[in-house]
Amino acid sequence: MYAERVDGLKSSAIREILKITSRPEVISFAGGLPAAELFPVKEIETAARNVFSRYGYLALQYSITEGFVPLREKIVKTLAAATERPGIGNILITQGSQQGLDLLSKLYIDRGTVVFTENPSYLGALQSFSIFEADVVPIASDQDGMRIDALLEGLRRRRPSLVYLMPSFQNPTGACLSMERRRRLIEIVKEHDLVVIEDDPYGELVFEGERSPSLFELGGMRNFIHLNSFSKTIAPGLRVAYVAADEEIIRKLTLIKQGTDLQTNTLGQFLVEEYLESNNYREHIRILRRTYKHRRDCMLSSMEKHFPESLKWNRPAGGMFLWVELPGEWDAREILQRCLERNVAFVPGQEFFPDGSGKNTMRLNFSNASPDHIEEGIRRVGEVLKTHGNYL
Ligand SMILES: Cc1ncc(COP(=O)(O)O)c(C=O)c1O
Repeated sequence: MYAERVDGLKSSAIREILKITSRPEVISFAGGLPAAELFPVKEIETAARNVFSRYGYLALQYSITEGFVPLREKIVKTLAAATERPGIGNILITQGSQQGLDLLSKLYIDRGTVVFTENPSYLGALQSFSIFEADVVPIASDQDGMRIDALLEGLRRRRPSLVYLMPSFQNPTGACLSMERRRRLIEIVKEHDLVVIEDDPYGELVFEGERSPSLFELGGMRNFIHLNSFSKTIAPGLRVAYVAADEEIIRKLTLIKQGTDLQTNTLGQFLVEEYLESNNYREHIRILRRTYKHRRDCMLSSMEKHFPESLKWNRPAGGMFLWVELPGEWDAREILQRCLERNVAFVPGQEFFPDGSGKNTMRLNFSNASPDHIEEGIRRVGEVLKTHGNYL
C-alpha cells in the first residue's frame, strides 16, 4: 500500500522520549531545546508591529521560493569572510535546516547512494538520508571531529556522493573539528572533488576562544554546501534557516522546494529580517553564550559531585550538549528507564550511531534547564548510575 522507502522508517526515540518529558515534573536533558526564557519575545512582538505597519498585507501574501530578498542580503553579509564572495543567488531560505537536509537528500540521494557521516551523527539528518534509502557509511570521530585517518580509509573503499558533517559543537557529542583537521579535510575534499554538507547551527554558540571559520568560508562553494539556522540563535518556532551554496545548486534546490512547500512562510522571514535590522543580534548571541556556558559549568560540577568515577565525559567548548561514556557493558537505555521513574531524562547515545554501536553512551542537553534543575537532575541520574552495578 505504501511506498517501499517507508518500510524501514522507525520513529525517532527522541520524539518518543519528548512525549514523556513534556510532563512538568520531569527534568529533561533529552531534547535539543534552546532556553525558552531567552527568546526575544518582546523584540519579536515589536518586530511584528513594524512588519505590519511597513508591509501590510504583503506580510501575509505568497512570496518567492528563494526567500525574502532583504533577509538574504543580511545573510550574505554574515558570510563576508568566505573566499569567494557569495551573493543572494547563493542563498535559499528554508523552513528550518531540517528542510535543507530534506531538499539536499532529494537532490543527491538515490537508493544506495553512499553518504559519509560522522559516527555518531545528527539523527534528523540520518532520518532524512534513510527516507531516500542512502547507504550511510559512518566515519570514526572523536573530540576533534571526524578523524582524518578514518576518512582516508573510507575513501580507499568507497566513493561518497555526499559527506555530511557538523564541524562545530556537533549534535550529539559537542565535538568541534580542530583547525588542523579543517584544513586537512578541505585538502582531501578538493583532491577527491567531494561534495560536503556542512551543518552549522551551533557555530555561534562558542564559550571558549573564537568561533572557528566554517568549511564553506575556508573551502569555498565548489565543494561545500553550508546549512545554517536561526533556530538556536533567535527561536526555533519561527522555522527560518538557509542553505548557502553554489548558484547552480541553489537553482536546483529552489525547483525542488517548489514541489515541497512553494516557499518558507512569509511572515516568519519578515520577522527575522526586521528583528536583525532593529536589534543588537550580536549582543543577544553574547547573552546566549554566557548563559549556556554557565549551564555547562553547572552540569560539569554537578557531574563531578554525583557521578561515579568510572564514567568519562567531555567538556564541550560550545553548543548545547555534553557526551558521557559509561563502562563498556552498561546499556544507557536501561539507565534511562530507571531515570524516568525518578522523573529525569536524557537520550541514550546508541540512537545516533549509524553502525548501531554506542550502547554505553548518553547525550545530555544543558541549554534548556535552569542551574537548580541541572543540579537536581544530575543528582537523580547519579543515584541511578551509582547503583547500576547492582542491577546488572
Ligand atoms: C545538527 C542539526 N541540524 C539541523 C537541525 C534542525 O534545526 P532547524 O530545522 O530547527 O533549523 C538541528 C536541530 O536540533 C541540529 O541539531
